[in-house]
This record gives sequence, C-alpha cells and structure tokens, in this order.
Amino acid sequence: MRRRKLSGNSLMGGAILFATVSVVVTVAVSLHENLVKHIENQAVITLIMLAAILLLAGICTVIDYFRRKIMVETPTKRILDATDRIASGDFSVRLEITHAYHHYDEYDYIMENLNRMAAELSHTEMLHTDFISNVSHELKTPLAIIQNYATLMQDERLSQDLRRQYAETLVATSRRLTALISNILKLNKLENQEIKPDRERIRLDDMLAGTVLQYEELIDRKGLDLICDLDEVEIVSSPDYLEIVWNNLISNAIKFTDNGGRIGVSLKAEDGRAVVRVWDTGCGISRETGQRIFEKFYQGDTSHAGEGNGLGLALVRKVIDTIGGEISVESELGKGSTFTVILMLNQQ
Ligand SMILES: Nc1ncnc2c1ncn2[C@@H]1O[C@H](COP(=O)(O)OP(=O)(O)OP(=O)(O)O)[C@@H](O)[C@H]1O
Ligand SMILES: [Mg+2]
Repeated sequence: MRRRKLSGNSLMGGAILFATVSVVVTVAVSLHENLVKHIENQAVITLIMLAAILLLAGICTVIDYFRRKIMVETPTKRILDATDRIASGDFSVRLEITHAYHHYDEYDYIMENLNRMAAELSHTEMLHTDFISNVSHELKTPLAIIQNYATLMQDERLSQDLRRQYAETLVATSRRLTALISNILKLNKLENQEIKPDRERIRLDDMLAGTVLQYEELIDRKGLDLICDLDEVEIVSSPDYLEIVWNNLISNAIKFTDNGGRIGVSLKAEDGRAVVRVWDTGCGISRETGQRIFEKFYQGDTSHAGEGNGLGLALVRKVIDTIGGEISVESELGKGSTFTVILMLNQQ
C-alpha cells in the first residue's frame, strides 16, 4: 500500500477557516472600540454590534458554503456518480484527477483507487468473457463431431468396419470432451483456491517413472526413444498436484515429437531443490509462441490443435504457483524443447 501524506490542498480548508475567524474577530473588536469612542448610548452600540455580527456571520457562511461546494461537495458528487455507474456494471468509468500528483488530497487518492478498481474489474470481466467464448468454441467442435458420427451410425446399411471406425471416433471425441471439462474444473478450483494442496513425503523418481509408464503404449506406438535419468529424490509436496504437472509435460513431449524422435525425463537434486527436466526432439517452440504457451487456450502448433485445448500448460503454471516452484522452457524451432521445473525439497 502506498504511504500518503496530508497534502497542501487538504490543509487549505483549515487555513481558510482560520483566516475567516481571525478577520471576523479583529473586525468585531476594532468596531467595538471605535463605537465606544464615538457613541455614548450603550443600547445603540449593542444594536450596531448585533447587526455587524449578523452581517459578518452571513459573510462567513457564504465563504464556507463556497469552500464546501468546491472542496467537498463537487469531488464527493463525482465519486458518488462514478460508484453508481460501477455498481450498475459500467466499468469503463475513469475519473479525471485535476491536481498534480504532489498536490493530491484525500479525494484524489480515492479517485485514483476508484480508477484502479474499475480498470481491474473491466480486465476481469474481459477475461471471463474470453474464457466463456473459448470454452463454448472448444465444446462446439467435439459436439459437432459426435452429432455427425452418431447420425451416420443410424444408417442400417453401414458396414461393420465403418461402424467400428465411427464408434472409435465417438469414444475418442467424448474422451477429449471429458478431458476438457475436467481441465476447466481443475483450473477453476485452483483459481478459486477451493483445493488446498495436501503435503506428503513423496519419492519423486518413483512418481515420475510411474507417470512415464502410463504413456508406454503411446511411446511405443510412435516409435519414440525414451531416456530416463532419475536420481533418488524425496520431496514433501502434494502428489495430486504434481501428477497434473508431469502428465501435461510428458504428454506434450510425446504429442509434439514426430515418430522416431526422442523424449526424456531427468531428475536431479541441486542445492536443496529438485530439478525436473522434461525434454524432446520435437517440433520446438518459436520465441513468440514461447511467450504465450502458459495462457489459457493458447495453442501455438496448429497441426496438433485437434489433440487438445491449450489448457494443459495454463494448469501446470497455476499448480506450480500454488505449490510454490518455478517452471521455464528452452526451445529451438525444429530441434526440440526442454521444460524445467524446480521445486523446493521441503515445501512450506
Ligand atoms: N513439448 C512441446 N513441444 C512443442 N510445443 C509445445 C510443447 N509443449 C507445449 N507446446 C506448445 O504450447 C502450446 C500449449 O500447450 P498446452 O499443453 O497448454 O496445450 P495443448 O497441449 O495444445 O492442449 P492440452 O494440453 O489442453 O491437451 C501447445 O499447443 C504447443 O504449441
Ligand atoms: Mg498439453
């Protein structure tokens, strides 16, 4: 939070009040002295003094009215109008601050905070709208495929072979749909901090070997060379969360490497940290793509766009942020990529 000092503007209100009271008292005192010198009748003096005090009080009230109008009511009204618009969902409102920064008063700070709040709200709203349109788009494609193939399968003259092929497509597409929905739910839970990472003592090398094993069939089918170099490393962390990370990195390495290529997983303990590298000799990532791969729904390589939704790495980044760690990527287009994950051996 920024430290603020009382500005000259806010002291000015007090100074005006002080000056007005001083002038009124001085005028009243000297008027009384003059009257005493020139008029003998006490009743007349009292009457004149009364009229003078009423007049001075009237002038003070007018001065104070304009002071309040300019320094309090106008900014309060502007702030109220802005909060009304924000409350009714208009986040485009921005208040113009007329004072220079070093002359800011409390109202200026409130206005500045209000502008920041409105900007933050419109950014969040934009993210939500983008997210919803991305989700709808990603749902539409598999649903259209399911509809098409289900319609084709209604034809009784269909050969057994084609029927089996269509059924396989249906199963694969509905799996993709399930994966998409499960990824969205996981991301949502992580973003809303609904799931707290549980902490267990884990043998990270066993965990990585177990995850790689799940992909054995796929690796064989693509004829990939698999190189595992896993040191024995024990870590205290959340197994459920870590599974998400390894699954996404390893499945990406397989997906983005052409048949006959090489992929690998290595694990080392360095300076109280576990360093996991998932690498491949696949298509690689360009510099521009590399800057966006952790964004939700971003897919750099369009030739594989049908095999995912671009949520994997967004989920990985969110998990790493939640459990505390670092992830980075090094890649060269056409040569391959290496994703490095660094975790503290004993996470807090
Ligand atoms: N090992 C890799 N080699 C080359 N490109 C990669 C690799 N890993 C990720 N990318 C690029 O980053 C993008 C985002 O990856 P991410 O895992 O988020 O999405 P996805 O794999 O396309 O879909 P999903 O993970 O939802 O199945 C990919 O579309 C691809 O362009
Ligand atoms: Mg992926």
